[in-house]
Amino acid sequence: MYVCICNALTDRQIRDAIAGGAQRPREVYAACNCNAQCGCCTGTMLNILREQPPEADRVAVGD
Ligand code: FES
Repeated sequence: MYVCICNALTDRQIRDAIAGGAQRPREVYAACNCNAQCGCCTGTMLNILREQPPEADRVAVGD
């Protein structure tokens, strides 16, 4: 599903960026080699970030 229309980012790309360590929307954009344009996707991106903590956080929770 497309989350960011301006940059054609899908939820899968965003989840991959988070799994790679992105913790903020701007880090997700950077991981996807793009920048925020209109910002309309930020709320959805934040929801995905809350649902899927970065890999480092998941490891810490598992300890
Ligand atoms: S929809 Fe993502 S920056 Fe516009």
